[in-house]
Amino acid sequence: FEVTWDVEAAEKGGYQHFMIKEIYEQPKALKETISPRVNNKNEIVLDDIKLTKEDLEKINKVVIVACGTAYHAGLVGRYAIEKFAKIPVETDVASEFRYRDPFVDDRTLFIAVSQSGETADTLAALREAKEKGARVLAVTNVVGSRISREADDVFYTWAGPEIAVASTKAYTTQLVAMYLIALDMGLKKGTITKGKYDAVLNELKTFPEKAEKLLQDKQLLQELADKQFNNQNVFYIGRGIDDHVGREGSLKLKEISYIHSEAIAAGELKHGTIALIEEGTLVVALATQDHLYDKMLSNIKEVKARGAYVVAVAKEGNTEIEKSADIAIYIPNTLDELTPVLSVIPLQILAYYIAVARGCDVDKPKNLAKSVTVE
Ligand code: G6P
Repeated sequence: FEVTWDVEAAEKGGYQHFMIKEIYEQPKALKETISPRVNNKNEIVLDDIKLTKEDLEKINKVVIVACGTAYHAGLVGRYAIEKFAKIPVETDVASEFRYRDPFVDDRTLFIAVSQSGETADTLAALREAKEKGARVLAVTNVVGSRISREADDVFYTWAGPEIAVASTKAYTTQLVAMYLIALDMGLKKGTITKGKYDAVLNELKTFPEKAEKLLQDKQLLQELADKQFNNQNVFYIGRGIDDHVGREGSLKLKEISYIHSEAIAAGELKHGTIALIEEGTLVVALATQDHLYDKMLSNIKEVKARGAYVVAVAKEGNTEIEKSADIAIYIPNTLDELTPVLSVIPLQILAYYIAVARGCDVDKPKNLAKSVTVE
């Protein structure tokens, strides 16, 4: 009598793949990233970041550099820092940043975002920024990683080990990191009122619970994936931070399902991509931003008129979208500034079930690596 023990199956804890397990670990990961950073006086405590008020006053520019999914978190980071801390921010992919002789000096705060903390291009960009005198802050998931060791300040995303090549829980915790850093800077600099700061922070604290709620109804997405897995092209459209989330949704889909996918700012549709919309083309439209909602409704009508099948993502209660889209997916109601943390979750689930329906090797997609340590 011999007991066979499949270590990998045990690590997946009953889930079919690491990716879906990690998607479902998001409420916990969010909680572990947020809770230790907020004390009972609602102050943000960032132990490994030594930036003082005086340091912040000196900084006249923030540069966020990353690759892949981390870059998409950096796009939301740009929005958050500009909004709350009122410092101009640029976000760039690491492999581009280094070769454009960027303007970086001792008044620049350089933020490297990297799940692994080992990505070669991000590390090289960090070294270059440091050499030019920038203060370097790393947002990473791995304690002791090269990027964490070389940075002046570190924010650890406590997402726990991420095994699937396609990043999910690391991304949502990177978003939370960007929000906490931006809020903290804003309060220190006096560019955000205490009232607004409290409102945003209190809302952020509800996210583990809201993510949990969102994860309860995956059935609609699963059914959708079972019908839509044969597409040749899928387009993601959105405006503002919805566009940034669309990029991440599109990346997820192409990484694991090998379907060609493109994400564009919805306003750019008519400058090219709309030419590719035909009968049955799947378009995922993000419409979570109140001030852009009507504009998105028009974009949805534009693609519908060309035959697109539209899946819209909106905030709970904004049911008007059902008149224009074929299917509406709702996220729990929240502040517009914070929607990415929630709105990406249905996109992760959709990509996952499409890849499963296509019989793909979800956790280890071809040609991709979890960590890219060559330039
Ligand atoms: C690879 C991974 C992606 C990741 C990117 C950046 O392409 O497959 O999931 O987003 O590298 O990795 P990093 O560890 O720096 O976040």
